[in-house]
Amino acid sequence: MQTFTSPTELHAWCMEQKRLGRVIGLVPTMGYLHEGHLSLIREARKRCDTVVVSIFVNPTQFAPNEDYDAYPHKEADDLALCQAEGAAACFLPQPGDMYPQDASTWVEETRLSKGYCGAQRPIHFRGVCTVVAKLFNIVAPDVAVFGQKDFQQVAVIRRMVRDLNFPIEIVRAPIVRDSDGLAKSSRNTYLTPEQRATALSLSRSLFAAKAAVDAGERSAEVLETAIRQTVTAAGWAPDYATVVDAETLVPLQQVAPGASAILLACRKDGLRLIDNILL
Ligand code: PAJ
Repeated sequence: MQTFTSPTELHAWCMEQKRLGRVIGLVPTMGYLHEGHLSLIREARKRCDTVVVSIFVNPTQFAPNEDYDAYPHKEADDLALCQAEGAAACFLPQPGDMYPQDASTWVEETRLSKGYCGAQRPIHFRGVCTVVAKLFNIVAPDVAVFGQKDFQQVAVIRRMVRDLNFPIEIVRAPIVRDSDGLAKSSRNTYLTPEQRATALSLSRSLFAAKAAVDAGERSAEVLETAIRQTVTAAGWAPDYATVVDAETLVPLQQVAPGASAILLACRKDGLRLIDNILL
């Protein structure tokens, strides 16, 4: 496996891969890799000849009050995992490699990024879109794989790709969960055992909502109220619990099976967790 820190060197290597006729897949990450990330690498491997994994804790998507400085790292383990999964290259730039000191250009999606997590984190998706657009330009992948775990993120990136004519297929890979239902996340490392136990209320409430829909329930209000009650009873304060159109993220009053999702974000003790389910 090749490793790169320089965008120019990675770009040259990717261009050579293309010249050799290889289909390139990109998996962008912030490292501290877990099974969720590895499932994206596997998905990319299925579809592509050459898989590039980026590991970059992107400063521009963190607000000053967020956990940029505390974000967990384990670079040597991450590299070993990428290698074991058959990644052809790993990109580990420093912030200075990605952002000139006087960088003054942003990529901003202005509709899908405004609600839900974007309402709590106003600059977050601008940072995500900017870094992902830069990675797309550096790697020029045919396919890029993102996780359903960050449902709004994939929707925003799909919109950016459509609006800006990036010739890239965006794949949304399913959420990988712990055996008890908790969606895997690098930030789960912040949870105390007590917080982790009560955090199971998020996935439990979403599974119950899906079961209700499968049994014929269509009212968003009924589903959202039940979810709020479940997580609140476990001590988590819902930021939002919303039935949405899976592509546009517009809130729905009635579930449209096959085209809807429930987005959920909850807070407790300064921690914030997100989860979602397709209906
Ligand atoms: P990060 O949180 O490291 O996540 C990298 C990718 O892994 C994202 O596409 C995310 O949705 C996916 N992922 C995380 N947990 C998952 C799980 N349990 N199951 C399936 N996929 C999961 O998301 C980011 O980094 C950044 O915003 C990034 C896109 C890299 C831009 O900086």
